[in-house]
Amino acid sequence: MRRILSHDTFKTVREIGKYFDCHDILTASGRAISSQYFCTKSTSHSTAMDLSDMRKKYKGDKECFEENQLVSLDPIKQFGDWFDQATKCPEIGEPNAMCLATSTKDGRPSARMVLLKGYSDEGFRFFTNYESRKGGELESNPQACLCFYWEPINRQIRIEGKVKRIPYQSSCDYFHSRPKSSQIGAVVSRQSTPVPDRNHLRQKNAELEEKYKDTDVPMPDYWGGYIVMPDLIEFWQGQTNRLHDRIVFTRPKTGESVLEDYQHPAEAGWVYQRLSP
Ligand SMILES: Cc1cc2nc3c(=O)[nH]c(=O)nc-3n(C[C@H](O)[C@H](O)[C@H](O)COP(=O)(O)O)c2cc1C
Repeated sequence: MRRILSHDTFKTVREIGKYFDCHDILTASGRAISSQYFCTKSTSHSTAMDLSDMRKKYKGDKECFEENQLVSLDPIKQFGDWFDQATKCPEIGEPNAMCLATSTKDGRPSARMVLLKGYSDEGFRFFTNYESRKGGELESNPQACLCFYWEPINRQIRIEGKVKRIPYQSSCDYFHSRPKSSQIGAVVSRQSTPVPDRNHLRQKNAELEEKYKDTDVPMPDYWGGYIVMPDLIEFWQGQTNRLHDRIVFTRPKTGESVLEDYQHPAEAGWVYQRLSP
């Protein structure tokens, strides 16, 4: 086990240690963002890796992200603007991939990637197995953090908030909009539970393909969507000189009306402030 892990780690480091050439991309305002990589560290086949001078060239100070560049003081609209730009960047294969962090009730965190499947003023939606590890954690502690990182444009967005299941019918509609093979995959997989081997899954998949070859696949009751209802959304723009830009929107609780230091009123019940990088 240890050997497999160290071989994989070596491969990953070797991959990310290569020089890459990315094309410049244009932001919505037509400005070019240079996204050339700057990884100079060579690595050797050893278990001790020194990655201390492995860093990427970000943007110059004149390309910083200032408050007057927010397209909206409503953070959901601002999210939409950055998300659209990410979808137009050819180097970003899955702009809707995000890291979802959950935690047990007694505070042990876990994180994994999921796909954003929709967003609105109400929140950010994803689909999963309600009986998976994340599902169990969300049922007992309905709080989550989402984190997007769009490396070629040096941007990160962090979203925090309470979580709830979306209505059954909305899950059903989405479930049946997926290709049949994905529907069967969701039924086959009792996500996060141990299985004897891959063949076990293969066999179950084949059985279900046969069973549902002429009929709809019913959505299993252990599958569906969640929505993260944000009370914090932070926009991070990386800068070469490490004076990264961080603008964070928070939604004060009902009754909290006093602005904190350097906090400004925004729209739709939000306030915002700049954080030190
Ligand atoms: C890019 C990417 C997207 C993924 N999207 C989803 C998703 O939308 N829903 C999901 O349940 N798992 C998704 N997965 C798999 C999860 O990362 C994870 O392995 C699985 O949900 C089990 O997580 P858990 O045991 O922590 O509950 C995705 C994985 C990757 C790498």
